[in-house]
Amino acid sequence: IDKSLRDLLLGNVRSVPNFPKPGIIFKDITPLLQDRYLLELTSRLLAEPFRGAKIDFVAGLESRGFLFGTNLAQDLHAGFVPIRKPGKLPASTHSIEYELEYGTDSLEVHTDSIQSGDNVLIHDDLMATGGTSAAASNLIRKMGGNIIGYSFVMEISALGGRRFLDQNLPVHSLLKV
Ligand code: PRP
Ligand code: MG
Repeated sequence: IDKSLRDLLLGNVRSVPNFPKPGIIFKDITPLLQDRYLLELTSRLLAEPFRGAKIDFVAGLESRGFLFGTNLAQDLHAGFVPIRKPGKLPASTHSIEYELEYGTDSLEVHTDSIQSGDNVLIHDDLMATGGTSAAASNLIRKMGGNIIGYSFVMEISALGGRRFLDQNLPVHSLLKV
């Protein structure tokens, strides 16, 4: 995307210092969602790099990956599969544990969603350390899903999260900060 477009979108991502913890600057995408034109524009721009790709599902990561994720799925004529935090999905699930800075967390997905051989695009609002998207990748691969790429609204490049993702797959971040 060109610089004026980038500036427009970045101008509508709010940086909130010391949220949720002291020292963290929270990147808030709610202004992009709130504006009717920016909602549509952002959704379309996210889909652009993947047009024409054979995609069965967009897998959106809870919770902020749900927001643009369903628009992206609809635009790409794919289904949407939520990857959720533990205890949220009602039916039978597969789960995967992953390391946090302190302790572990896990992600879950319904067993009757992605099947072996399905092509899956992973979407989230933000890649920081890459831990969440790497865990989601492992979960989808465990189900036999074929990951075809990654889509993020924003990427914090300095944290180098890309190194945890498959180097042969396209990683498209609309905004790099
Ligand atoms: C944030 C963000 C990504 C993840 C990125 O989610 O929305 O999902 O962290 O971090 P990582 O690349 O270091 O793994 P958060 O856990 O705050 O939850 P939320 O989306 O439900 O707000
Ligand atoms: Mg999240």
